[in-house]
Amino acid sequence: MKIPEFRIEKYFERYEFTTRYVLSASDAESRSIGELLALEPGAHERLSEQRLGYTEGAGSRALRSEIAGIYQGLEPDDAVVCTSAEEAIFLLYHVLLGPGDHAVVETPCYQSALELARSTGAEVSTWERHAEDGWAHDLEALEGLLRPTTKVVYINTPHNPTGLLMPRDAYQRVLELGRERGFTVFSDEVYRELEHDPAARLPAACDVTAGAVSLGSISKTYGLPGLRLGWLASRDRDLLARVVDLKYYTTICSPAPSELLTELALRHREALAQRNRGLVLRNLELLDAFLERHAERFSWARPDAGPIGFVRLHGDEGSEAFCRRVVEGAEVLLLPGTVFDRSDHLRVGYGRADLPEALAALEAFLERDG
Ligand SMILES: Cc1ncc(COP(=O)(O)O)c(C=O)c1O
Repeated sequence: MKIPEFRIEKYFERYEFTTRYVLSASDAESRSIGELLALEPGAHERLSEQRLGYTEGAGSRALRSEIAGIYQGLEPDDAVVCTSAEEAIFLLYHVLLGPGDHAVVETPCYQSALELARSTGAEVSTWERHAEDGWAHDLEALEGLLRPTTKVVYINTPHNPTGLLMPRDAYQRVLELGRERGFTVFSDEVYRELEHDPAARLPAACDVTAGAVSLGSISKTYGLPGLRLGWLASRDRDLLARVVDLKYYTTICSPAPSELLTELALRHREALAQRNRGLVLRNLELLDAFLERHAERFSWARPDAGPIGFVRLHGDEGSEAFCRRVVEGAEVLLLPGTVFDRSDHLRVGYGRADLPEALAALEAFLERDG
């Protein structure tokens, strides 16, 4: 399998653990194991008694029951646990696609959504969104990309990197197209439940059409990426069974302690999401005011979901050089838009508790910068 370098992850690897302020993370503020265990009496004992054997390939039934509870009327057998959402993307694409097949991927996107589709040998078209029209979803353009061989259309809402929700009618139309044309809508919902206004939440794709697949993760909204736990949910059980068959070649099963802690976290997911929503809303106001104060340098489409946003950098410098100067000069990590093939943008993350300090450091740098 030939696959290009994962630019997003390489950039983070270089700076994330040595830079004082991470102002570009896509995961909300995390918690300690102790904080999770304190959510429920007896949890500490359950973790310490957890045997470290292999687990079920599809994930423990108890965890799959919690996952099913996120959706409308789903059963535990309508979910497969994966060792991260990242693994789930790999598995689903490799089950659904191969040479001679075609896929469409909404862009800009998290890089694996595009490169892992290509890695199957399938032809991949990009459904491109643009800053100039407020990142609109051009449905005519999407229809123009579809072919008789189209097996998968990948969409992502709430969206990385813009932090925008797909408008409800566009979302419904993509799902309808999947039904009409017989392709799988692969709906990446890893930022779901972190809508800034919970009333704006879209239904999960797997609740709208039987053939659609929803991708979920414990990493982002709930702030627990260290568990490396994600899942696929769908009413297409044959498809899920094929995913498990392939999982035997990647991780066989997911780590037992992570399954147990994820099950616990999901039982309390509303409390976890609510704390992070509080942080995100507080931080968004600060960030918005900051961008207003520096309107000659920056502008953005204000996000309405998740902990990230995509900021346009005015001028000729380009985001790669600017972000490098900021990380070196202010110890603030921003993510250059070049990793999303958008060199005039940069991604900010505002789900972390230390955002006020990070913004102050960035502001002091900009003042020195003139
Ligand atoms: C849209 C999207 N999908 C999937 C992933 C992978 O998530 P995880 O870290 O839970 O594997 C990410 C991570 O940034 C993401 O932004």
